[in-house]
Amino acid sequence: MRPHRPSISLGIICTLAVVSVVARAQTPLTVSSPDGRNQLSLGVRDGIAYYAVDRSGKHVVLPSRLGFDFRGARSLGDSVRIVGSLRATRDTTWSLPWGEVARVREHYNELRVAFAEAVPPHRQFSVAVRAFDDGIGFRYEVADSGGFGDFEMADERTEFHLADDARAWWIHANVPRPDRYEDLYSASPVSVLDTVRTPLTLEMQSGIVAVIHEANLVDYAGMDLAGQKEGTTLRVALAPWADGVKVRGRAPFMTPWRTIQLADRVEDLAPSVLGLKLNPPSRIQNTSWITPMKYDGIWWGMHLNLNTWGQGPKHGATTANAKRYIDFAAANGLKGTLVEGWNVGWDGDWTANRNIFSFTKAYPDYDLPAVAAYAKSKGVSLIVHNETAMGIENYERQLDSAFALYHSLGVHAIKTGYVNDKTEQGHAHTGQYMVRHYRRVVETAAKYDIAVDVHEPIHDTGERRTWPNMVSREGARGQEYNAWGGEGGNPPEHESILFFTRMLSGPMDFTPGIFDLLIKRPTGTPRPPEAARPRSTLAKQLALYVVLYSPVQMAADLIENYANQPAFQFIRDVAVDWDTTRVLTGRIGDYVAVARKAKGRDEWFVGAITDEQSRTLDLSLSFLPNGRQYVADVYADAPTASWRDNPEAITISSRPVNSTTRLQVRLASGGGQAIRIHPAGSSQ
Ligand code: NOJ
Ligand code: CA
Repeated sequence: MRPHRPSISLGIICTLAVVSVVARAQTPLTVSSPDGRNQLSLGVRDGIAYYAVDRSGKHVVLPSRLGFDFRGARSLGDSVRIVGSLRATRDTTWSLPWGEVARVREHYNELRVAFAEAVPPHRQFSVAVRAFDDGIGFRYEVADSGGFGDFEMADERTEFHLADDARAWWIHANVPRPDRYEDLYSASPVSVLDTVRTPLTLEMQSGIVAVIHEANLVDYAGMDLAGQKEGTTLRVALAPWADGVKVRGRAPFMTPWRTIQLADRVEDLAPSVLGLKLNPPSRIQNTSWITPMKYDGIWWGMHLNLNTWGQGPKHGATTANAKRYIDFAAANGLKGTLVEGWNVGWDGDWTANRNIFSFTKAYPDYDLPAVAAYAKSKGVSLIVHNETAMGIENYERQLDSAFALYHSLGVHAIKTGYVNDKTEQGHAHTGQYMVRHYRRVVETAAKYDIAVDVHEPIHDTGERRTWPNMVSREGARGQEYNAWGGEGGNPPEHESILFFTRMLSGPMDFTPGIFDLLIKRPTGTPRPPEAARPRSTLAKQLALYVVLYSPVQMAADLIENYANQPAFQFIRDVAVDWDTTRVLTGRIGDYVAVARKAKGRDEWFVGAITDEQSRTLDLSLSFLPNGRQYVADVYADAPTASWRDNPEAITISSRPVNSTTRLQVRLASGGGQAIRIHPAGSSQ
């Protein structure tokens, strides 16, 4: 099967190629954000194209090279001169069908600079820059000039020469989990970094916070960043095809945007919408079938070894069990039920047998049409699971027939999975081959009115603006590690790092809501603190619904564990779609508190989490409208609570609040607090 190649519009490149020469001088050309604070310059030094970035007169990126290396062709970016430039401004505001904010203002100044080789074959390329108040983006637009035609890119040579030895919050790109971004974060000076993933959050010595990432990744390789083990330069490192080529294509072509989000304080990094502004508008006209929702599912039991994905006496995905989960969802206002392990292919070592997965054939004890009809009758969306184990060709062969079947059963959401490092042919998990695949799945799903939640994805580059059926993804260590993670699960600081790193790229399906925090149910005895278990209190599990944004949020525990639990009321109540988001306070790796307003309702939710340190946050509720009275339902760590010794101790209370209230929010070690704020006199 030929790999799928989404088409991109190259009208811009063609326009630039014919622009008459307007700038002969090789002095740099500069563009500033509308507020004048962020500035990017493009120039040529010793024949080499470069860019540099400043914020409020402080250097962020020193002159850094631009260009490409190819197999069988000269590098591009050396021996060039500037041959033209264009400027534009845009100020527009648009709505998102769902999101952590309802509306986005897209306001930027744009500069496009055309470069041409001063020597044969006189190829041309442009660099387009958009300067926003929250950061900058630039991309290459390469013309089909000088006999360019087909190419095999050996490397993109873009560098980020940081102005100081910033503190980077990073995960490895190549070890220990090259397929999944499922690594614990570390903080180190840029000068010691190996190859790391993006978004890469940098606390600069100047006080500026910068986040390097990419936007609109289409038909290109995913970007990592390679440190040089000395100095403060990071180089773009692209994930390869099996033969080492990074990108195959044909000129004209455009790269994804290279983005640098810029802020003065870490609290100003979220909500992060820079990437959305650099993606094309939605291609889906009617989005009414895309439903933000909470969901339960046949899932945690497999991770705890209480159930199996494959057939046998502990098979989780039976018709009867699925109906039980659907009943629970319907009774508790959850709009979805996920069922994993329903389809043929799981028996034996499913990570090795990647080509035998069927995405239409159910195991005999699971009646897919009956379960789908039952879910529909209860007003619950069945979320169908598709684990590929990286058997990409096997999955692509079945995409249309599987999605057509789901569509015929009224299914509007799937969860996909890609457990394994590489494709069978040896292509990298985040290389161009997989970028094409992930896009193909989302585009095909859109044809069948199906939303996609991807596990083991490639990082989010804002594609949800164009394809709002791309609802969520994993792409970090989620809750699953707390079932079996060798080192005892995620450390208590994990989510307060995720908020300022991974979450800046987009929604994450973290799967919060474990109530049996000691994991007593499988054996009847609590697991010790050294064993894998959530290093979290119960109140923190609730707070994660507000802190870690996703339009689909799982109530991840076994439904039995929610019985007779007053704290479950918060999961019933919490919103999953928002008008606005405000970070109240935070420090990377220590704590964060977030307030979000429910979409279309006068109702607010606050989530606060801490690391292993207990602490008290002083939070002002000045985000509430003045002069109105509200009630806060507070789910707090009990005075005796701590993740280690007493994780399930929670105190639930209500109190009147208004915009002048200050809350003293006490968080236990590994703790959190979740608050629902609703108008006084409204229902509880
Ligand atoms: C890993 C995913 O993250 C998890 O949610 C899923 O249950 C397993 N793979 C099986 O597909
Ligand atoms: Ca995973």
